Amino acid sequence: MILKKLFQSPLLFFAGEAYEGSVLSTVEDAATQARSRTWGTVESVQQLFLALSQVISCSEGFSIMGFYSQVILPRLLDWSLSDATLAKYRQALLADVQGEVLEIGFGTGLNLAYYPPHINKITVIDSNPGMNSLAKKRIRDSNKAVAHYVLSSESLPMAENSFDSVVSTWTLCSIANVEQALKEIYRVLKPGGKFFFVEHGLSDNPKVQTWQHRLTPIQKVIADGCHLDRNIEQIVKGQFSQVEIEQFTPEKMPDLVTHLYRGVATKPLA
Ligand SMILES: C[S@@+](CC[C@H](N)C(=O)[O-])C[C@H]1O[C@@H](n2cnc3c(N)ncnc32)[C@H](O)[C@@H]1O
Repeated sequence: MILKKLFQSPLLFFAGEAYEGSVLSTVEDAATQARSRTWGTVESVQQLFLALSQVISCSEGFSIMGFYSQVILPRLLDWSLSDATLAKYRQALLADVQGEVLEIGFGTGLNLAYYPPHINKITVIDSNPGMNSLAKKRIRDSNKAVAHYVLSSESLPMAENSFDSVVSTWTLCSIANVEQALKEIYRVLKPGGKFFFVEHGLSDNPKVQTWQHRLTPIQKVIADGCHLDRNIEQIVKGQFSQVEIEQFTPEKMPDLVTHLYRGVATKPLA
């Protein structure tokens, strides 16, 4: 279980456990000197990660970061995101999905098993071709017709007003230009269509927020662009005027990486 939590965010081991256990409580309780010492360590680790990522992504022909993000990360994500608690949220979210469906950030296809029986055709996209082998296996094993594309959510080739439902789970954190992706989601939804999402993001606890801001640069390197500190509510409401949303942290999970935003945003009728 501890290992599962570790990769729900790959940073969890480093940050979440430290946050839950010692680092944050040390920071809260200790004197200023101890505080700056702790932050100094985190800052050095951040710098080390950033420097390392620059060095290894510069080598010509073969990029270790490319290998990590296309071969290793898909397997880590598949393993960590198949947690039973997260599965409950997937199932509950997808129960209300209707009509023509687009899923963005399909990943390895962990949502596929939770689409209700009345949905038998789905269009899915993901920007990382490394997700393909695991995703294709899940598609083959499912009884749905799935149109699967390697595409970026920021630039969808689909016509406007094409879908009744767009789905995103644990994806808005890692889209580079998330505001542009929201524009695209809105554009491809039919009037009255709905955007269904479960995402992790910025906590409502200021102390946790501080750590989320500090650790996001490292998390982006380890988890292929994932931000710990995105305010998903603000981002969705920046595009949609009609949004039902709740924020919560599942029991026994750290707020740092599992502060969840769950909701449905609706495109107005004409
Ligand atoms: C943490 S994984 C979540 C996967 C899946 N949605 C799930 O719930 O298991 C985030 C996914 O978003 C994808 N992604 C990141 N940026 C993207 C973009 N700009 N367009 C489409 N997919 C993107 C990643 O490749 C990855 O598969």
